[in-house]
Amino acid sequence: MELIRIRNLAVGYPGEPPVVTGIELTVRDRDYIGVIGPNGGGKTTFIRTLTGALPPLAGKIEPASGNLRLGYLPQIKSIDKTFPLSVTDVVMSGLLSGKGLFGRYGRNERERAKKLLDEIGVGRLAGRAVGELSGGELQRVLLCRALIADPQLLILDEPTTFVDNKFEKELYELLAELNRRMAIVMVSHDLGTISRYVKSIVCINRCFHYHPSNIISAEQLREYDCPIQLISHGPVPHTVLSQHQGCACCDRPKQETR
Ligand SMILES: Nc1ncnc2c1ncn2[C@@H]1O[C@H](COP(=O)(O)OP(=O)(O)OP(=O)(O)O)[C@@H](O)[C@H]1O
Ligand SMILES: [Mg+2]
Repeated sequence: MELIRIRNLAVGYPGEPPVVTGIELTVRDRDYIGVIGPNGGGKTTFIRTLTGALPPLAGKIEPASGNLRLGYLPQIKSIDKTFPLSVTDVVMSGLLSGKGLFGRYGRNERERAKKLLDEIGVGRLAGRAVGELSGGELQRVLLCRALIADPQLLILDEPTTFVDNKFEKELYELLAELNRRMAIVMVSHDLGTISRYVKSIVCINRCFHYHPSNIISAEQLREYDCPIQLISHGPVPHTVLSQHQGCACCDRPKQETR
């Protein structure tokens, strides 16, 4: 089943030249798309447009993201950590459909939030203020927030930046489990690890490339100027994909694509 169809989309900020243009992507049930690209390439701008937080500069996202149950874990630098909310409130804000951030929630919702926090290993933080949390704790709390509405599409923008190795591994295993019933779009710089789990890859570096597989060559990464280390997994060979054909961005000298 198609969840989202994106046609000829341009993303960016009003009054400024587009950050990424020519985006064509269809997200289907149980897809698992890894999004890679260099700093400032436009990954977060694309993700925010996908969630409806930014309006498209051109083109279309169908159906409108409002029609879809969507869970979103934002890149952590964009969170205002002084926000005077408790951990439980933040998790429950993932349920807000018309309730507003300070809306009233019932006991069931509170219990559900607590159960999720326990499952993710941060139940002891339930009563704390989010502003007091470490980066890794906040990231886990925001994952609970993204999951509480049981999304059809889970969007994660660099979910492992602050977490330790142990939780990182647990997170990828949890996502593989969740992918049995929801589509996932995940931004990460750690292609070596995620390529084990994702089913397809999107490269965003001012232009947009979709690869319908989880295998990408070191040569291609260099071409996209992606600061990503390619790690091979035991005996699994890496297929070398051919160059993207007919892409104006790729044919331009590198400095112009920045
Ligand atoms: N609110 C904003 N207004 C104007 N320009 C912005 C805004 N936010 C980001 N940008 C610019 O848009 C471009 C793309 O930024 P974006 O955050 O999408 O990159 P990214 O690929 O997510 O990078 P990173 O890997 O560092 O997270 C950058 O040049 C950035 O400076
Ligand atoms: Mg980003």
